[in-house]
This record gives sequence, C-alpha cells and structure tokens, in this order.
Amino acid sequence: MDTKITIIGAGNLGTSLVKGLVDGGKYQPSDFILTRRNTAKLVGFKEKGFGVIGKNIEAVLMANVIILAVLPQNIDAVLEEISEVVKSNQLIISLVSGVKIKNIQYILGNDIPIVRAMPNTAIAIRESMTCITTTEQWVTRIAEVKELFELVGETVIINEEKMISATALCACGIAFFLRAIRAASQGGNEIDFHANEALKMATQTAKGAAGLLIANQSHPEDEIDKVTSPKGCTIAGLNEMEHNGFSSWFIKGITVSAKQAKGLYSEN
Ligand SMILES: NC(=O)c1ccc[n+]([C@@H]2O[C@H](COP(=O)([O-])OP(=O)(O)OC[C@H]3O[C@@H](n4cnc5c(N)ncnc54)[C@H](OP(=O)(O)O)[C@@H]3O)[C@@H](O)[C@H]2O)c1
Repeated sequence: MDTKITIIGAGNLGTSLVKGLVDGGKYQPSDFILTRRNTAKLVGFKEKGFGVIGKNIEAVLMANVIILAVLPQNIDAVLEEISEVVKSNQLIISLVSGVKIKNIQYILGNDIPIVRAMPNTAIAIRESMTCITTTEQWVTRIAEVKELFELVGETVIINEEKMISATALCACGIAFFLRAIRAASQGGNEIDFHANEALKMATQTAKGAAGLLIANQSHPEDEIDKVTSPKGCTIAGLNEMEHNGFSSWFIKGITVSAKQAKGLYSEN
C-alpha cells in the first residue's frame, strides 16, 4: 500500500506541513486526507486535489499514517473518537505540544505505534527545525518519521522530556525571530527608510546572518567579531542593546515559553 497520510486538525501547522511535503515533490495532494470540523475552511485545498473530510473516523480508516495536529485541549476528544478504529499496523505521529506518548497510549492502547514530532511553521517552505521523539517501544519507527520531516527541513532526535524545551526554542522561536526582524525594521524606519523598504532590508539581513552560521558552521560571536571594528558603529549599537538587556530578555522569553508549554495539557 502506498503511504496515505491523514492530518487530523488541518489548521495552521497541519496545512503548512502538507504544503511543504507537496512542494518537496515526493507527495501529491491526493496522498493526503485533511480533517477539521469546519471543512469550509479547507475548500482551497480540496480544489487543489487534497482529500477533505469532516469525519475523523473515516479519515483514519483511509490512511496508514495519521498525523495529529489539533490543539492540546482538543486531543482527548479526538483520541477517544478514533480509538475505536485505529489499528496497530498504522502509525500515529503527534505534533500536539505538551501531550506525552503515555497520554496518547492511555486512550489508544499500548499496541499503537506513536512518535511525536515538534516542527515549526517554516515547514511550509521546507525550512522547519523538527524535533522528533518516541519511547523505547517504538524506536524502530523513528527512521520513517525522520525521513518524512527531512523533506521539509532539518531534524533532530531528542529524549521525550526535552520536547517542552524544543517547543519553546523552535516552535515558539519562529515568533521570537520574526519579532526581532520587525523591531529591526522599525529601527530602520525611524532612521531613514519607508516601512516596506526597511522590512525587506531587515528580513534579508536576518536571512544572511542565519545563512552565515549554517554555511560557515561558526559561532555567532565569530561572525559578530568580523563586523565590530574598534570604536565602530556596530559595537556601539550592540553594546547599547546589551546594556538594555537584549540577550537577557530573549533568554527570559524562551524560559517563560517553556514554562507555559509545560502546562498546555492537563493529564487526566
Ligand atoms: N503553530 C505552530 O507553530 C506549532 C508548532 C509546533 C506544534 N504545534 C502544535 O500543533 C497543534 C496545532 O497547532 P496550530 O497552530 O495548527 O493550531 P490551529 O491552527 O488551531 O489548528 C488546529 C485545528 O484543529 C481543528 N480541530 C479542532 N478540533 C477538531 C476535531 N475534533 N477534529 C478535527 N479537527 C479539529 C481546528 O479546526 P476546526 O475548529 O474547524 O475543527 C483547527 O483547524 C497544536 O497542538 C500545537 O501545539 C504548533
């Protein structure tokens, strides 16, 4: 049987994932079945050839891989619903933040293969940082999940207890870096440029900074040292930011996000 993938809860992340996988060239829209309660919001995907169904049970019966992409507060109801039909020859991949494999197994049963993956929305452009984990029992299923997510970015395999931290650093992290780009563009706007010009310039500069680290496999401080000449304008601006707590506030934001991520799901 060819791989047929059902996404239960095709919202922001679920639709970003299928866009990325189709753009990657290995999958066709017809390889996917998308579900959500308000299927009217998936009309555009239906027109492009994706399967769209309002009933999770039907969608589970049609797939061999089931990706859970609902919010943590909706996961128990979805698991209860599909537990009647899900089989041990299927694979469940959960993208749901804060919900442990043991929580999913508690409802679906111990014989259902479950792997967790924590991507970010850059998955739509195949630039996700996806952290993947499972328990000892399903470690043999990690490779196929890694292969799937490598089509849409970079992957790392981590222990399950680190998934909360991965959520803060990589999933929430997208928003942190976007806000940093927005702030840079506002600075550019204040000193000289129209808002749209400043945003384009700040965005490409951020892309270049990340690109340097990836291409050179270097540390940020190595690259910073290359642009901070003595008595220069870069070190003056950088030190002013640090005197006002730039690194400290960024770090604090990540630790607060991690604390919040821990409480997203209340175990029964
Ligand atoms: N967004 C991110 O960057 C990101 C990154 C990593 C992990 N995550 C995790 O991924 C999950 C989804 O996040 P998101 O941002 O994509 O949220 P979202 O946009 O709200 O998507 C969740 C979707 O689930 C659907 N849904 C709710 N109840 C359902 C049910 N019973 N059956 C089928 N569909 C149902 C909702 O649509 P209807 O109301 O129409 O049913 C909604 O479209 C969350 O658990 C989040 O923690 C998100």
